[in-house]
Amino acid sequence: MPVLTANWGLERAWTLASYAAFGGYQALDVALGMTPEDVVETVKASGLRGRGGAGFPTGMKWGFLPAESEKPRYLVVNADESEPGTCKDIPLMMASPHTLVEGVIISSYAIKANRAFIYVRGEVLHVIRRLQAAVREAYAAGHLGTDIHGSGYDLELVVHAGAGAYICGEETALLDSLEGRRGQPRLRPPFPAVAGLYASPTVINNAESIASVPAILKNGAEWFAAMGTEKSNGVGIFSLSGHVTRPGQYEAPLGITLRELLDLAGGVRAGHELKFWTPGGSSTPLFTAEHLDVPLDFESVAAAGSMLGTRALQIFDETVCVVRAVLRWTEFYKHESCGKCTPCREGTYWLAQVLARLEQGHGSEDDLDLLLDQCDNILGRSFCALGDGATSPITSSIKYFRQEYLDHLTHGGCPFDPAASTLFAQEVLA
Ligand SMILES: Cc1cc2nc3c(=O)[nH]c(=O)nc-3n(C[C@H](O)[C@H](O)[C@H](O)COP(=O)(O)O)c2cc1C
Ligand code: SF4
Repeated sequence: MPVLTANWGLERAWTLASYAAFGGYQALDVALGMTPEDVVETVKASGLRGRGGAGFPTGMKWGFLPAESEKPRYLVVNADESEPGTCKDIPLMMASPHTLVEGVIISSYAIKANRAFIYVRGEVLHVIRRLQAAVREAYAAGHLGTDIHGSGYDLELVVHAGAGAYICGEETALLDSLEGRRGQPRLRPPFPAVAGLYASPTVINNAESIASVPAILKNGAEWFAAMGTEKSNGVGIFSLSGHVTRPGQYEAPLGITLRELLDLAGGVRAGHELKFWTPGGSSTPLFTAEHLDVPLDFESVAAAGSMLGTRALQIFDETVCVVRAVLRWTEFYKHESCGKCTPCREGTYWLAQVLARLEQGHGSEDDLDLLLDQCDNILGRSFCALGDGATSPITSSIKYFRQEYLDHLTHGGCPFDPAASTLFAQEVLA
């Protein structure tokens, strides 16, 4: 049963008129009729877990704000969405920006914030404009501003455009960026709940997490908790991209398998077979065809050796060279490393060098151990999760496709497409 995506196909679904006709902003009235504490309890009881990757329980995060503080409280929505493969928040904000705006108002009310921010990836100008238009409409209709729906509650909402850095999706780097500084992760503690934006208590949540809140208020915590698995409740958007017949956004209960999702999406493209895939974006360890039946919930994916992440299922068929795909991702991490800590700044550079050498058919089998050693010196030793994520494609691809790396050595280059691979590797090495 679609929840977040239920109205996406309606005529001009992004307008307030369409959203209101669909029952939009009714959940806000439900929330405003409750105490903020009860709204927090409802979200806790629903079992909603963060949709930004780590799966932290949303209601619990809200409960970490200090009960008493002289400083203002802030809600910050993370809509930076820059991980390779991750593409759910942008379609969500494009198709139904009011779902997010309504979620922001309810969530801000719950945490007693009077100012909220949506930090959007700067490159997606069309999405920013659509969000800004929705916020304007919401102000004009009295859903934002002072005395919302006659409740006495006030909220100002700002849509803020980033400048195109993956690291600004890391929540503390995002806060620095929002404050006008260069986006680099902050040392914790203090955690944002205590000293976040402008050193004030702050909740940061992913756009899909916040957009899930109105349906929970409208239909009840039990309704949401009844979907999904025991510990991974509710529904989520699964983004299928790559070599799949009908790529797109597929909303489903957590715990669905890739086999079931591929059935919905028409399967791997005709005449080809699944080789490898990412369960949650490029920073989650690769899976292969042997993982088709792993339930896509936080626990099962972790037990199978990867992470649910952002449910960004990038599908690669047998025509793709895994070494080249991994080199491309590594080049991305090298480029996006913010440079704050040595293991990631230096390590991602050297990972790309060794991989490019291997991809060109140079180097030796010892380079595989060298790569694993480099990964070992980055994983768990970096300042933030970008460094950890950079190692995932490398270690998992060596685990499942060691022979393909060795084939590059015996073949003197990429067995799939030597000319293209060499050009790319040369760029990396340049
Ligand atoms: C390099 C990096 C990039 C990230 N990018 C995003 C992002 O674009 N959107 C997002 O919601 N979370 C992103 N995160 C995770 C956030 O730090 C944070 O965990 C998340 O916004 C919390 O929201 P949630 O509890 O609702 O999932 C990123 C983390 C890292 C390390
Ligand atoms: S791990 Fe990478 S991105 Fe994160 S702080 Fe260190 S250098 Fe910056």
